[in-house]
Amino acid sequence: MQQYAMLISPSANRVYARTAARMAANEIRVFSARALDGRVVDVEEAAFGGVPYLTFRSDSLSARDLRLLANLSSLYALFAVRGAMLEPIAVERLDRYDDDLITILKYVGKTNEQFTKLLLNVTAAVALDPDRLLSGDVTVLDPMCGRGTTLNQAAMYGWDAFGVEVDKRDFEAYSAFVQRWLKDKRLKHHAVQSRVKREGRGVGQRTRVEFAATKERHRAGDLQVVEIVNADTLRSGEVFRKGAFDLIVTDAPYGVQHAAVKDTRALTRKPTEVLEAAVPVWADLLRRGGALGLSWNLYTTARTDLVAILEDAGLEVMDAAPFLDFEHRVDQAINRDLVVARKPK
Ligand SMILES: C[S@@+](CC[C@H](N)C(=O)[O-])C[C@H]1O[C@@H](n2cnc3c(N)ncnc32)[C@H](O)[C@@H]1O
Repeated sequence: MQQYAMLISPSANRVYARTAARMAANEIRVFSARALDGRVVDVEEAAFGGVPYLTFRSDSLSARDLRLLANLSSLYALFAVRGAMLEPIAVERLDRYDDDLITILKYVGKTNEQFTKLLLNVTAAVALDPDRLLSGDVTVLDPMCGRGTTLNQAAMYGWDAFGVEVDKRDFEAYSAFVQRWLKDKRLKHHAVQSRVKREGRGVGQRTRVEFAATKERHRAGDLQVVEIVNADTLRSGEVFRKGAFDLIVTDAPYGVQHAAVKDTRALTRKPTEVLEAAVPVWADLLRRGGALGLSWNLYTTARTDLVAILEDAGLEVMDAAPFLDFEHRVDQAINRDLVVARKPK
């Protein structure tokens, strides 16, 4: 069996970096179990020349397998281990745009970018077969999208990204950002502002932007969409049609008053109550076989309670290894975990 060694990205966030290796190891295990028929084994932390790596073994990784693994959220560089030497493997990421799409915006309450990518990845691995995952033909909703970290990561992959956010300032900041960024990059795009209405009553403001990574794609009509709606997530069912999304991915409000988190302002209910009310709405918006990936603060909601909410909404929760070891500390008030649940086919 060939052994591979993965160099982990030097994380911008020191707190997240402490748990990055364990999180990355479990992300590889999810990819292996869900997208690579269990062909990646012996995932371990190791050191080469005093530098920490993750190693794993596999019999036969095809070009497609490597294209999948290239998108692991913490992958910096990949090597084949040859005795005491490391042979670089060229990785071909899905990334369609410059990475400042994801890194430029800095604000209080931003979800860590690497973690956002991990959550999107493990949710995608549950819902999509590998060819679909690599195809670009994927539709994602972040129903509590803040200033769009999930939307940007989905757009980076070439996927269509939709968001709902109750906070008007976040909505406006993201709407402005995405248009300015496309303009700065001289990427052809078309933006439309409108009001979403149902039965004559306003639901919220909407910004929809259509764009393409290259002039050729634009000319061919191969457009991507980013759309954000300023509304309460409980009204998402009035904005989008049932079964519209392959993936729903969100970092739920933490329910704490804290310098680094601004979400209490927008909250009228406790996080568990919001999730109780919102999960059935979101489940309706998932297509059959689609998956919901949620991260939340364990200090406000117990895992068992969230699993019950997801099951009550008719979703199948991934409630076994490697999905049970993603818990990590964000700060003294936030101990974050993630859960992935699938809508039965
Ligand atoms: C943890 S933050 C997500 C941050 C986001 N991932 C980002 O990086 O910008 C949770 C978000 O949920 C939003 N939120 C809270 N309650 C909501 C509701 N009922 N409907 C829609 N959004 C809500 C908050 O305003 C906040 O932006």
